[in-house]
Amino acid sequence: MATLVVVGTQWGDEGKGKIVDVLTEKAHYVVRFQGGNNAGHTLVINDKKYILHLIPSGIFHPQTVCVIGNGVVVDPEVLIDEIEKLKKEGFSLSPEKLKISERAHTIMPYHKALDLARERRANQNKIGTTGRGIGPCYEDKVGRRGFRLIEITQPKLFKEKLKSVLEEKNFFLKFLGADPLDFHKIYEKYIQYGEYLKPYLTDTSYLLWKAYQEKKNILFEGAQGTFLDIDYGTYPYVTSSNTLSANASCGSGLGLTCIEKVLGIVKAYTTRVGEGPFPTELKDELGIYLREKGGEYGSTTGRPRRCGWLDLVMIKTAVRLNGVTELAITKLDVLSGLSKIKVCVSYKIRGQERDTFPSSLEALWEVEPVYQELPGWEEDLRKINSLEKLPSFVKDYLNFIQDYLQTPITIISTGPERKNCLFLKERIL
Ligand code: IMP
Repeated sequence: MATLVVVGTQWGDEGKGKIVDVLTEKAHYVVRFQGGNNAGHTLVINDKKYILHLIPSGIFHPQTVCVIGNGVVVDPEVLIDEIEKLKKEGFSLSPEKLKISERAHTIMPYHKALDLARERRANQNKIGTTGRGIGPCYEDKVGRRGFRLIEITQPKLFKEKLKSVLEEKNFFLKFLGADPLDFHKIYEKYIQYGEYLKPYLTDTSYLLWKAYQEKKNILFEGAQGTFLDIDYGTYPYVTSSNTLSANASCGSGLGLTCIEKVLGIVKAYTTRVGEGPFPTELKDELGIYLREKGGEYGSTTGRPRRCGWLDLVMIKTAVRLNGVTELAITKLDVLSGLSKIKVCVSYKIRGQERDTFPSSLEALWEVEPVYQELPGWEEDLRKINSLEKLPSFVKDYLNFIQDYLQTPITIISTGPERKNCLFLKERIL
């Protein structure tokens, strides 16, 4: 039996979805615990590309139960659309297969409208959000005026609360130069969503506790990445939830002591979408080369991702913050063909060198990365199916990362498909 949390160690888009999909072969439960449809997991199965925003990647495995935990913010429209599309593709989405926490908060139309209106108004200072209403929904959760999914199945209570909440939201929307929203339209729509989702809603915390007692394999699928965490990320250029592994417990309701392992996903280079500091960003031809070769365009918004060298100062910090027990390195194939590869090993800020990630935004903008240069390799790694056949410079690159981080690499991914995966040690799940 194993309970494993999969987290991104950078700014998201590390390739978590694919790793989770591969590990899910042996998982009985796959659990989302934070974020919402700001996430986008791209998977290639039998040459067909699937992008999931809310439903855990485990949905493609017949034996796996997928859980959307209480820490997730759910846009019912997007979720229902995702369920219907997958059903059409022939996947099972029965209420036995998909379980949704009745405590998860629902994204409302005014959350999306406020997210977009605020970003529009912020001009220079915008965060570069995905515009999916994530921040405003979490704000309302903390402000105790949000709607849990269970509430949209209770028409009478929902009606009363919506009336008072919408009054305030429309006031803000008008202030931000956006159109106010109609109460009846929202009410009718959300009551229908509630009816549709009702069979899926349950106390997922209890469900997971039972599963844990029955010694099932439970895999927690983190969304976004460590440096988008609301506390430890590059605030305010972050998302509105805790993306760290510890939130797997709060966001699912399974106690902290039930969680055994944490797998940190590291992309072999760094990317970021949206605004904010990025010490190793490549603003030259090489950055464009990595973007094109790696297909670095947001799977949720289609925005081009900013690209740069691997930053081990970040990853070392992420290993500490998440209590990472092992690492998976993804997209190693994208680096093939480069004669030299740089890795950032420390930061210089106003002449002072350090190997920890600063909390001050001002300091982050001033970072001068200190690089170690390593030899590149030519070979197409997608064709390699055993560890022994890995080119020696690839092994050197991996060993360098492993030694620096003092954490074992257990998986490497050399392409988008399930088969492009090598296990360096015994399988962790
Ligand atoms: P929000 O989560 O939509 O509020 O966006 C806040 C920041 O997080 C923006 O910079 C987004 O680009 C970024 N972000 C949110 N979700 C993801 C993700 O799944 N991958 C990468 N970046 C993300």
